[in-house]
Amino acid sequence: MSAFESETFSIRAMTAGDLASVVDLERRCHVNPWSKQLFEEELSRHQSAVDLLWQSERLVGYICYWRICDELHILNVAVDPAFRRRGLGRLLLSHALKCGCARGCERAILEVRAGNSGAISLYQAFDFTLIGRRDRYYPDGEDALVMERKIACD
Ligand SMILES: CC(C)(COP(=O)(O)OP(=O)(O)OC[C@H]1O[C@@H](n2cnc3c(N)ncnc32)[C@H](O)[C@@H]1OP(=O)(O)O)[C@@H](O)C(=O)NCCC(=O)NCCS
Repeated sequence: MSAFESETFSIRAMTAGDLASVVDLERRCHVNPWSKQLFEEELSRHQSAVDLLWQSERLVGYICYWRICDELHILNVAVDPAFRRRGLGRLLLSHALKCGCARGCERAILEVRAGNSGAISLYQAFDFTLIGRRDRYYPDGEDALVMERKIACD
């Protein structure tokens, strides 16, 4: 049975009142987590969206993306380790692509750590393809892969 048949999930935009929960989840999901200040900056950027995935009152994931002209930039996506491999990463990515489509975005682009095989598999499942590599892009020296896909609204 999929997560969606057995449980109720909802997505809503982040507000300042969610900062502590989001920063806590971020720390549990990333090697170099974003700071509270960085999330605050995202809240104040008009082109940015941080959308949160909830199971009832529990924050289980989020996705951050920018809409810039006809491009959707996916900056961050994370799912609580206890909720992984249940389709929630897919749900968040689908949501962002739909929002991009509604805003007239024609392509989606993202960077991912070259060694993050789980995330790369997720993006490949969404037809993202490799378009570049940024050497030693991350603070710890890891390369970034640049991936892109067209957004076809249906
Ligand atoms: C990447 C991440 C968001 C995926 O979330 P998730 O909810 O587990 O993903 P889903 O269950 O929707 O997976 C969808 C598909 O992606 C692929 N996938 C996801 N995680 C994978 C993993 N660890 N290994 C291999 N494939 C994986 C699979 O094809 C999977 O389909 P399947 O389960 O039917 O095989 C989650 O692992 C995470 O939060 N990681 C830490 C943060 C991070 O690295 N974010 C991405 C960079 S910003």
